[in-house]
Amino acid sequence: MGYEFIEFEKNDKGVGILSINRPNALNALNWDTLRDLGNFIENDFPNENLRVLIVTGSGGKAFVAGADIAQMSEMNGTQFKEYTDYAHNVYNLIENNPCPSIAAVNGYALGGGCELALACDIRIASEKAKLGFPEVKLGIFPGWGGSQRITRILGNGKAKELIYTGEMVSAEEALRLGLVERVVPHDVIMKEAKELAGLIASRAPLAVSAAKKAINKGSEMDLQNALNLEKELIFSCFNTDDKVEGMKAFLEKRDPEFKGK
Ligand code: COA
Repeated sequence: MGYEFIEFEKNDKGVGILSINRPNALNALNWDTLRDLGNFIENDFPNENLRVLIVTGSGGKAFVAGADIAQMSEMNGTQFKEYTDYAHNVYNLIENNPCPSIAAVNGYALGGGCELALACDIRIASEKAKLGFPEVKLGIFPGWGGSQRITRILGNGKAKELIYTGEMVSAEEALRLGLVERVVPHDVIMKEAKELAGLIASRAPLAVSAAKKAINKGSEMDLQNALNLEKELIFSCFNTDDKVEGMKAFLEKRDPEFKGK
């Protein structure tokens, strides 16, 4: 694949680990790093045989410390719009990908880094992680999806408190708020992320993807339309080989072998 700023590996259970790899800048997403991420998601994402994607940061200190401040300070408005449009597109592709995703937040997840974690389905944080939106200290505000995705998770009041102050929260506080789903010791975060990913990967992939779509799209709809979408999606699952296999395996008292068909 030949990427300089991301690394990707996949295990035999269909779990992929995508690492943002620019540790000397705490994995800040400069243009080259963001483009590597975007190119991978758009062109090299192994759609056929990936069951769960884990996103993390290299270097042990940061998940992603945000957009690149040095580069942004040199951008004019047109260039910043191009940078922001690109980031929105990449994050939307991650959020809407049928493959479920886990952010393994192994350190600082700030600004665009916290926004990347929010575009993933589930967030596991190391006890050393710090999350937040420092943008107002720079004269901007979280504009790579942050002001919208965080509000849907935390509600307006807490989102405003975090965004207006620019203060970081600890992993424990993030857990209490519902910004992350689990906090684990720093040295076992990848083990925990892989275990969770492995468990999800062992379930019927089309059913997991349908559930993701039902939750993501349904939460943007009024209840009746969301319930109709849920029905449409459960009917599509009911017609799969994996539904036959899952129910048969239960009745035969054995583990199912799902094929994603
Ligand atoms: N953009 C560009 N470079 C960044 C960066 C970012 N968002 N975050 C960190 N870096 C760089 C630093 O400039 C430094 O580079 P240098 O060694 O060439 O000087 C390197 O990463 C290490 O960061 P440093 O600040 O020395 O580490 P620290 O442990 O003292 O502090 C942070 C860590 C995360 C608190 C601090 O780096 C920080 O506040 N970063 C900016 C976070 C931010 O505002 N993100 C939102 C951007 S919209």
